[in-house]
Amino acid sequence: MRFLITGSAGFIGFHLARRLLADGHTVVGFDGMTDPRDAALKAERHEILRRVDRFRAVEARLEDIAALTEAAAEAQVIVHLAARAGGPASLEDLRAYVDSNLIGTFNLLEVARTVRPRHLLLASTSAVYDGAAVTGPFLEGAPTDLPVSLYAATKKATEALSHSHAHLFGIPTTCLRFFTVYGPRAGPDSALLRLVDAVLAGRPIAVSGKGELRRDVLYVDDLVEAIVRLIGRPPVAGVPVEAEGVVDTLSPSAPWRVVNIAGDTAIRLAEVFAAIEALLGRRLEKRLRHLASTPIDETCTDGRLLEALTGYRPSTPVEVGIPEFVGWYLGHRRCG
Ligand SMILES: NC(=O)c1ccc[n+]([C@@H]2O[C@H](COP(=O)([O-])OP(=O)(O)OC[C@H]3O[C@@H](n4cnc5c(N)ncnc54)[C@H](O)[C@@H]3O)[C@@H](O)[C@H]2O)c1
Repeated sequence: MRFLITGSAGFIGFHLARRLLADGHTVVGFDGMTDPRDAALKAERHEILRRVDRFRAVEARLEDIAALTEAAAEAQVIVHLAARAGGPASLEDLRAYVDSNLIGTFNLLEVARTVRPRHLLLASTSAVYDGAAVTGPFLEGAPTDLPVSLYAATKKATEALSHSHAHLFGIPTTCLRFFTVYGPRAGPDSALLRLVDAVLAGRPIAVSGKGELRRDVLYVDDLVEAIVRLIGRPPVAGVPVEAEGVVDTLSPSAPWRVVNIAGDTAIRLAEVFAAIEALLGRRLEKRLRHLASTPIDETCTDGRLLEALTGYRPSTPVEVGIPEFVGWYLGHRRCG
C-alpha cells in the first residue's frame, strides 16, 4: 500500500515508517524538520529511511499546502503525526502550536478530502484528559472539554476538526490518543530521556507523590504495532465494535472514532526511577512536589477498545523496554 506519514523525521513517525517499509509498503515521509534541538537526530532518521528505495522524503511544512498536496497525491492511507508536541518548550511559542497543529492539520484534512484515503489516522494525546474532572483510569468517553495546556487544546481541536471532515466528506478517520511513549531514538521532549539525562548530570528532578503515582508508558514498538493493526480497521458508520465491557467511540454521524493506545504497561514512577538507577548505577535526586502543582499526576488508562478493534494488547514490560532505551541513549551520547 502507499502511505503518507507526516512527522516521519520525528520519533514515532520514524519508527512507523521503518516498520511499514519493512512490511513492503511504499512511504512518503513529510516533515518540516522544525525543531533545531534535535535537527541531527531528525536528519539521521530520514537518512536511515532513505536507504529503502520505497521511501521518499518531502521536507516541508504542513502550512505549505502545495507541498502537502504533492506529497499526498497517491496516498491510500495517511497517518498524521507531525505536530508541535508537548514538553517544556510549550509555553515559549504558543503561536507555533496553532500554526502546526491547527492550520497544519486543517491543511492535511483538506488534502485528504481530495485524495480520499481509505483511512486517515491522526495523533492525539492523553494530555486531553488533563484537567478533566475525573481521575484515571481515563477511558475514551471521559470528559475532555477543559484542556489545561495549549498543546492539549490544539489536539482536542484537531479531533473535532477531523470529526467534522469525516462527517461532511465521508473520510474514515481514527484519532489515536497516545500516552507516554518511549524507546530508542526518542527526541528531547521524551520524559524518559529527560529523566536519564538528569540522573547522568546529577540534576535533581521534581517528583509528585513520592513517585507512587502510576503512569501509562508505552514502548514505541508496541505503539507501532497498534497503529499498524488499526490501519486495517477504518471506522464504518453504523458498525460499532461489539465486545463485553467496551464502549465504542464510533460517531453516530460519521466514520470516525477515537482510541486510547494503551495496554498492560502502566507503571509506578518509582519503578521507572529504580530501573533507571539500576541501569546507570547512580541515584536519582528527587525533590518532592505537591500534587496540586502539576496537572498530569496520574495518566493511566486501559486499552479495551484498542484490543476489541485489533485483538492486540501492548505488553512490552519496562524491564525490556527501558534497558533498550537506555542502551541506545548511552551509545547516542557517546557518538554525538
Ligand atoms: N512521544 C509521545 O510520548 C507522545 C505522546 C502523546 C502524543 N504524541 C503525539 O504523537 C505525534 C508524534 O510525536 P513524536 O514524539 O514523534 O514527536 P516529534 O517531535 O519527535 O515528531 C514530530 C515531527 O513533526 C514535525 N513537525 C512539527 N511541526 C511541523 C509542521 N508544521 N510541518 C511539518 N512538520 C512538522 C517535526 O519536525 C517532528 O519531526 C505528535 O503529534 C505528538 O503530539 C506523542
